Amino acid sequence: MPNNETPEFKIGNLPIYGDLILAPMDGITDKPFRSLCRKLGSAISVTEFINALDVLTHHHRYHHRLAFDPAQRPLSLQFLGDHAEQILDAAWQIVPKIQPDIIDINLGCQSKNVTSRGAGAALLKTPEKIAKIFRLMTDAFDQPITGKIRLGWNDDNLNYLHVAKIIQDNGGAMVAVHGRTRRQAYRGDARWAPIREVKQALTIPVIGNGDVRTVADIERIKAQTGCDGVMIGRAAVGNPWIFSRLDREQVPPELVHQTIIQHFKQMLEFYGERGVITFRKYLKAYLKPYALPRETLLELLKSKEPEFVRSRVADILTPQ
Ligand SMILES: Cc1cc2nc3c(=O)[nH]c(=O)nc-3n(C[C@H](O)[C@H](O)[C@H](O)COP(=O)(O)O)c2cc1C
Repeated sequence: MPNNETPEFKIGNLPIYGDLILAPMDGITDKPFRSLCRKLGSAISVTEFINALDVLTHHHRYHHRLAFDPAQRPLSLQFLGDHAEQILDAAWQIVPKIQPDIIDINLGCQSKNVTSRGAGAALLKTPEKIAKIFRLMTDAFDQPITGKIRLGWNDDNLNYLHVAKIIQDNGGAMVAVHGRTRRQAYRGDARWAPIREVKQALTIPVIGNGDVRTVADIERIKAQTGCDGVMIGRAAVGNPWIFSRLDREQVPPELVHQTIIQHFKQMLEFYGERGVITFRKYLKAYLKPYALPRETLLELLKSKEPEFVRSRVADILTPQ
């Protein structure tokens, strides 16, 4: 069990206190959710990806992705783009204002509209671009530059070792490896053996990621790969307590209730009225273990009334 006095590892010169990290998730790891997970033990807060093109075209859609609470630090700002100069220009517009502690490069996004223009996981097919991104970014900024990769484009192109070494050789300070190919998207099982290979080949920290759902999984991926830290994505939705090394069934209903109310409040503060709608995906995941009747759940998830949501959640989670 990590303690708070000795860093688990360092990213560049930055000490990291803890070995569990909330994985960046588009549409999920917004300011309120990152705050919650950081409080519960996630050692770093990584933003949803910031599309460099949005920054360069002054599209307002990325602004709320930059929002953070100082208590969330260390903050990692994740950039997505297909050209080194584009990422660099976008970073120059944002980094001096936000002063993130870490800058991360997205080399894993699988969505078609991202990969069709050569960004995200498509960069795995052009390692020379990855080298240039890390060279330019590490030259330009004092912050450590990290990368989040997949195993390769598909099973015929498993170039994770090559890509990981390129990141390290060009000044990268950490690599997170999601044990799937782009072709797999989120299907099939994540493979952890390649994460071990990366860990053995690199001297910079390596973070293991993919299908970690329980405390036992955390210990298994660490034992099997030797990774320095573990990123947890989907399982954290519904169980943010995993960052305190608690499985969902170990969390008492009163704590679930308290957390829902607090999370909901922060969503309403952050998003205003539409926070009720944006909160639904989390609420559904929080309530999953209770196998509620379909009508009860639908009524709750369709409601636009914060007071109704609060009172039904209390009915469900407060012992009669
Ligand atoms: C809805 C969703 C959105 C995601 N968005 C991002 C993203 O913005 N940046 C990124 O690097 N990875 C993104 N990912 C990938 C996750 O960070 C993680 O690598 C993946 O979900 C595997 O981990 P898990 O099995 O713990 O969920 C996303 C995943 C999901 C499910």
